[in-house]
Amino acid sequence: MTSVLIVGASRGIGLGFTQSFAADGWEVHATTRTPENPGALGGVAGDVTIHGLEVRNKNQIESLAGVFEDRGLDLLIHSAGVLRGVSRDEMMAINADAPMAVVGALLAAVERGAERKIAILTSQMGARHGGETPSADYGASKCLLNDRFREIEPEWAAKGITSVVFHPGWVATDMGGRSASVSVNESVGGMRRVIDGLEPSDSGKFLTWKGTEHAW
Ligand SMILES: NC(=O)c1ccc[n+]([C@@H]2O[C@H](COP(=O)([O-])OP(=O)(O)OC[C@H]3O[C@@H](n4cnc5c(N)ncnc54)[C@H](OP(=O)(O)O)[C@@H]3O)[C@@H](O)[C@H]2O)c1
Repeated sequence: MTSVLIVGASRGIGLGFTQSFAADGWEVHATTRTPENPGALGGVAGDVTIHGLEVRNKNQIESLAGVFEDRGLDLLIHSAGVLRGVSRDEMMAINADAPMAVVGALLAAVERGAERKIAILTSQMGARHGGETPSADYGASKCLLNDRFREIEPEWAAKGITSVVFHPGWVATDMGGRSASVSVNESVGGMRRVIDGLEPSDSGKFLTWKGTEHAW
């Protein structure tokens, strides 16, 4: 069975990925900060295992990596992120530091998987488009995430792992709001099609949910 770990699955895009992979019969591992009160995540039908993870908590990251110590993971999706309601330092920690820490801890498990794929959710707000680094907190944090991804991706690729960062579209979640132009199902479906078709030569790309390349 093909396995996937989805980080940040309590709601929004991460929950959408969980529902989609579970419906297709994947072995799904999904994280939430509140495993004791999983909400909609607890009601997803299929082979879904829920793990507790606050992405800034190093002990919890280590515990999660321990679960996969002797196992492979075909696909790792890091969706957890924050747009508002936290300080700039917290935003940097959640959006830029945590994805690197989480992926780093789970890298060996992905290496043991058959598919060896990683997808990290970034944002078009983090793009410089050849110009200035975005200054607002959210854009700056996603820009830093992109820089870190580009720096470390060759190390991951050398291990046979294909990794990309995604702009998921402007998606109707708590973060994107009701007037967003893309539904969770459309965004998740689009990214799943792109992930399915990823080749090693795609590793290191900044992609949109439609599969087109996004400018850094
Ligand atoms: N929606 C959009 O239009 C849009 C556009 C561009 C990029 N993105 C990116 O896509 C990703 C998913 O966004 P979304 O729209 O699904 O957002 P969302 O609906 O606000 O959901 C955010 C998810 O991240 C989790 N999370 C936040 N901080 C966390 C932390 N410190 N530790 C663990 N989990 C944490 C949340 O868990 P809790 O329930 O515990 O808070 C929730 O599951 C994010 O990285 C976002 O930046 C979204």
